[in-house]
Amino acid sequence: MKQIVVFTGAGISAESGLATFRDSGGLWEKYKIDDVATPKAFIKNPDLVLKFYNIRRKQLSTIKPNVAHISLNRLSAKYKLSIVTQNIDDLHERSGSKNVLHLHGKLTEARSTKTNKVYPINYKELNIGDLCENGFQLRPNVVWFGEEVPNMNKAIKKVSHAHIMIIIGTSLNVYPAASLLNYANKAKRIILIEPKGVKMNDIEVIKEKATQAVPLLVDELLMN
Ligand code: APR
Repeated sequence: MKQIVVFTGAGISAESGLATFRDSGGLWEKYKIDDVATPKAFIKNPDLVLKFYNIRRKQLSTIKPNVAHISLNRLSAKYKLSIVTQNIDDLHERSGSKNVLHLHGKLTEARSTKTNKVYPINYKELNIGDLCENGFQLRPNVVWFGEEVPNMNKAIKKVSHAHIMIIIGTSLNVYPAASLLNYANKAKRIILIEPKGVKMNDIEVIKEKATQAVPLLVDELLMN
């Protein structure tokens, strides 16, 4: 079976109602990365950091996967499908996707600040005083700026075996995630779905929103 790797960012969840980061009105217009998404920020003002993720987790519990998330799963009829996402939402999983690798962690998990043990918390709040079983403060199980991306090598391995790579809803601004593109050496096709439209050598760019483009692209890939 041919392998397809779908590499997603915030844009695939935009039409479900989740703000992206760098579009106008995006999260990084409302919050400073250094205040809410770095290890230093958590030391300096843990309450603010936990509140930032509590707001996003609460919102996540009120929204649903969109037709882009859902359509991707149809590819499993003909391809070995892997999803590598920069998103910390659970919309791929809730759409029925099985093989989802999160590069930047999961909003629905907490992690012990001491033992690094991971605890599922679904959409519950995480506050100061919420401790792991060993009595240490819990933090969101997400990758903050400046932290290691533990799943990067796994993601590189998947992309290096892909016959087709589909990139959806990412500005390809953040490394090392954005460098994944450089490992798609076996890919016959690299397709980027980006409503802003960008010019990139050897990449097929579809200048449309995810919910428009993904169902049609899946139809095409299942036909030929
Ligand atoms: N359909 C498809 N793409 C969309 C849509 C849509 N409906 N709406 C917006 N986009 C595109 C935007 O044009 C932009 O190129 O999605 C991209 C979102 O880019 P970012 O906001 O930078 O999000 P992302 O690339 O996922 O950010 C990467 O940065 O802040 C960190 O950890 C965070 O995982 C995140 C990483």
